[in-house]
Amino acid sequence: MQNPYKELWGLDPSIVFLNHGSFGATPKSILATQARWRSTMEEDPVYFNMEILPQMIRNSAERLATFLHTSAEQLVFVDNATTGVNAVLRSLLPVLRPSDEIVTTSHVYGAVWQTLQYLRDSTGVRLVTAEVPFPISHNDEVINAVKSALTPATKLVVVDHITSPTGILFPIEEIIRICQENEIYTLIDGAHAPGNVPINLDELQPSWYTGNCHKWMCAPKGTAFLWTSKEMAPFTHPTVISHNYKTGFIPEFDWTGTKDLTSILCLPDVLDLIQEWGGVEEITRKNKELLLKGRDILTSSLGIEAPASVSFLTTMATLPLTFEISPNEEAKLQLNKRLRSERSIQMPFMPFNNKMWFRISAFLYNTEDEYQYLAESLPTLF
Ligand SMILES: Cc1ncc(COP(=O)(O)O)c(C=O)c1O
Repeated sequence: MQNPYKELWGLDPSIVFLNHGSFGATPKSILATQARWRSTMEEDPVYFNMEILPQMIRNSAERLATFLHTSAEQLVFVDNATTGVNAVLRSLLPVLRPSDEIVTTSHVYGAVWQTLQYLRDSTGVRLVTAEVPFPISHNDEVINAVKSALTPATKLVVVDHITSPTGILFPIEEIIRICQENEIYTLIDGAHAPGNVPINLDELQPSWYTGNCHKWMCAPKGTAFLWTSKEMAPFTHPTVISHNYKTGFIPEFDWTGTKDLTSILCLPDVLDLIQEWGGVEEITRKNKELLLKGRDILTSSLGIEAPASVSFLTTMATLPLTFEISPNEEAKLQLNKRLRSERSIQMPFMPFNNKMWFRISAFLYNTEDEYQYLAESLPTLF
């Protein structure tokens, strides 16, 4: 099946690429923009870093702020969502006490969970996990799990916008509202959300929100942001402290030492491309339509039940494997390697809730027949 979008990427044509979710994939035109910025940088690295870069970072922040419906004064760039989460959690090191509690959910991303453990080891804070069921059919199952984990000692709730192992959209509006009513801070891990769902940060008003532009917005790797509420800006510091410590949220984050920030300078072109493709809602509509077709192909040919109702889905779907396999990290990597080497398919397996699952992605360049091929290929692994 011909797909006109496919040629916009440099993806290996011999691989069926069904994993946009893990690291995104950047179109060739954006990589060309980045190469141009790199050349400009190397024409005079001093002039570039001192005179051009500071303005251009803020220019990208202004454009991204419009996209996220907020002010650039509350928006800084970080390397990735892991760094965004680390900046917030490590900023809390001086104030957390062993009597305090932090709530997250059982769908939390592994690296975020490790950072929370670091915080616990450093401060004695108690970590509480809200057990969100999977399979899942209603938003109330998420909301009730989080609500029942809250106590008068809860200081912070760390929750995904779209989860990694299960690929589902959490009702963060409601979770943020409940936390606000109980004077609990909220850190939203939006690693998968920008470019995937429309985001209005001024309306959402969490305490902090971090998101990746290098996944579903297709920006070059190393493009992510951290948004802070005005209240928390003075207390939020980058993971790497540099010259501008305590000079304000923007200057502290805009310079954290010498590095290649050309990915961030590509954001205006990335946002123009998203517009050219019809905007986030149109892109997501197309992706979701394809995802649902792919999911239907897989559930009917493998004889499995879809574990999440359609309203939870955006561009990823996690489905159960039909055969018994130990749900551990090693088995997951083995399966991924075999699927790539034996069937030329790139797709992740996910150990979760004592079971092994697989997660499909759908992006503009994918086609229905790729899911058909996956459905034929999976049983050959066993
Ligand atoms: C929910 C969630 N949080 C955080 C991350 C980390 O993203 P990054 O590797 O860009 O820091 C991921 C990556 O997939 C994720 O799915």
